[in-house]
Amino acid sequence: MNEKSLSQKSLQNFLGKDDKKIQYLDVKKKQNRRKKTIVDVPKPFLKWAGGKRQLISQIDEYLPNDFNKYIEPFIGGGALFFYILPKKAILIDINKELINAYNTIKNNVPELVKSLKNHKNEKDYYYEVRSKDRNPEEYNKLTDVDKASRTIYLNRCCFNGLYRVNSKGQFNVPFGKYTNPKFCDEINLYAVYKALKNVLLINDSFEKCLDFAEKDDFIYFDPPYVPISSSANFTSYTKGSFGKEDQIRLFNVFKNLDEQGCKVMLSNSYSDFILDLYKDYQINVLYAKRAINSDGSKRGKIKEVLITNSF
Ligand SMILES: C[S@@+](CC[C@H](N)C(=O)[O-])C[C@H]1O[C@@H](n2cnc3c(N)ncnc32)[C@H](O)[C@@H]1O
Repeated sequence: MNEKSLSQKSLQNFLGKDDKKIQYLDVKKKQNRRKKTIVDVPKPFLKWAGGKRQLISQIDEYLPNDFNKYIEPFIGGGALFFYILPKKAILIDINKELINAYNTIKNNVPELVKSLKNHKNEKDYYYEVRSKDRNPEEYNKLTDVDKASRTIYLNRCCFNGLYRVNSKGQFNVPFGKYTNPKFCDEINLYAVYKALKNVLLINDSFEKCLDFAEKDDFIYFDPPYVPISSSANFTSYTKGSFGKEDQIRLFNVFKNLDEQGCKVMLSNSYSDFILDLYKDYQINVLYAKRAINSDGSKRGKIKEVLITNSF
């Protein structure tokens, strides 16, 4: 069985035999969220660099009114997913620890909550937990719950909620010195668990979405951005970086999905390279605050783009 037919099969299993006709979601129904109690409304459980929470009200204007499945191939903290709360979704990310955290909430939230409650917001303890990935043999003995608990704890207690690993893949963000970081938000974790009920999570690169996308699906891409500063060397690659060739591969995926009749939307920086690459599509301008910048003087509003095909 080839890759494509395997994916079709797992998609069919995921959708359920009697669920071939997927229910349409009127995105405007999200207004109903306001009527729900606070307990029902999930929000991102991780702080994530480039997270879209602050841009949601601007992005909202460009969302399609209806679609079949929702697919987000660079899920990160999932701000748009948690805003839309689609009935059927496929979430993809190349970060293994991130997808393990989502899967653990989906499959074993009680154990995860129990484990999170054992953590402490103390510097020495933080570095002890952080150091667990220095010995791969020992790290591999940890359960998925242990790993997800470590990921969430480090994310909430580290400096600025950054996710950064060195060339050996070891997490290396320093302690964040927060007074009362919420690393065990039990109510939200249970709300996230509910939101992930009909969600397929995949640890892979963004192209994987091509195996699952069908006409009238809505695909939102929020990749690492093309750097806009002149000092950033966009063409040189460091291990794990997202370079020019990746942006071109992503453009080809966008085009392919457009040609299949999908509704496609993509965020990126307001840069000549992106403006030229997507010149045949609708390019909308949004204004974002720089969320993570240790240099206060560099915090301000910057332009970015939200590109869509016709829908
Ligand atoms: C800008 S962040 C997404 C932020 C997200 N929209 C949010 O609201 O938090 C980009 C994400 O792309 C992921 N990523 C980087 N390269 C990737 C690739 N080739 N395929 C899939 N995901 C990738 C990173 O792990 C990161 O989570």
